[in-house]
Amino acid sequence: MPERRYTEAVSAPTTADFAAEVRAGLSRPQKELPSKYLYDEVGSALFEVICALPEYGLFRAGSRLVRRHATDIVAGLSSPVMVAELGSGSGKKTRYLLEALARRQPVTYYPIDISRAALARCAIELGHIDSVSIVGFERAYLDGLLEVAARRRPGEQLLVLFLGSTIGNFDRPAGEAFLREVRSILSPGDALILATDVEKPVPQLLLAYDDPLGVTAAFNLNLLARINRELGGDFVLSQFRHLARWNDAERRIEMHLVSTVEQTVSISGAGVTVDFKKDETIWTESCHKYNAAEVREMAERTGFRCRAQWVDSEWPYAQNLFVAE
Ligand SMILES: C[S@@+](CC[C@H](N)C(=O)[O-])C[C@H]1O[C@@H](n2cnc3c(N)ncnc32)[C@H](O)[C@@H]1O
Repeated sequence: MPERRYTEAVSAPTTADFAAEVRAGLSRPQKELPSKYLYDEVGSALFEVICALPEYGLFRAGSRLVRRHATDIVAGLSSPVMVAELGSGSGKKTRYLLEALARRQPVTYYPIDISRAALARCAIELGHIDSVSIVGFERAYLDGLLEVAARRRPGEQLLVLFLGSTIGNFDRPAGEAFLREVRSILSPGDALILATDVEKPVPQLLLAYDDPLGVTAAFNLNLLARINRELGGDFVLSQFRHLARWNDAERRIEMHLVSTVEQTVSISGAGVTVDFKKDETIWTESCHKYNAAEVREMAERTGFRCRAQWVDSEWPYAQNLFVAE
């Protein structure tokens, strides 16, 4: 049995990267902040709470699908297999798959996440499964995947997980470009499990991203608090409010932070002063929704074949098994 271990290669975005992206994003006509910065220690902890909320059906649907189909997925893989997860978060739902794989063979699991806190949680969550060793990478998705692929031994198959419908955070063309990049790192026969959220009634979606307890609002506002903490910003949090809205043309939920008054904010660590009009917004995240046919077509356009799709009946949500051609 391989030794249980957890090592971390550290190369997440630096404070200088954060400052540069904040400066650039807040200088655009539609102010924006990259969603990857939502996940610091506080943000990752709040995301865990979001996953437990009754309104956030995505997490439970994703967990049900992995649990129900873990055996089918494992049956279609050759041996031996290494598993890499892009944006693993706490890796909770990955347990079912790792347990199914480990019944067959020892397995090394490589969670890749830019949030150190998420990786630490993942090590606690999954660090004690028999015959599973964990090597975490505090990296951006593709940097991490390149590192994992470089460790591949002859004859080993790579299984990549991209769960949580995180692909929805990319604009559609960027999502496809991302899948093409993932494919370019893989070898023919490697597998990708891609989870995608399916369009559903708008009120149901809005509640998932704007829960009555205000946890998602806190998750979103924490981005401004993070800028205050790490870049010396002087955002007054009570002068911003969370907004989730449905963009029908793009079929996505957008999360924004709305300035409730006219105000000026300075961020010394990013060397900027930013003026806000009343009701002006900062766009912080998108969550695109996909239908099943669209996902199959996307697989073909990006060098994969969609071998299976499983859709949850309680919260329409798809788990798609792609194989690299
Ligand atoms: C929506 S959560 C999904 C977590 C988990 N996969 C799930 O299904 O519940 C997205 C995760 O991706 C990570 N993440 C976001 N942008 C990233 C990037 N560019 N590179 C690596 N990780 C990223 C976040 O830190 C977070 O843990």
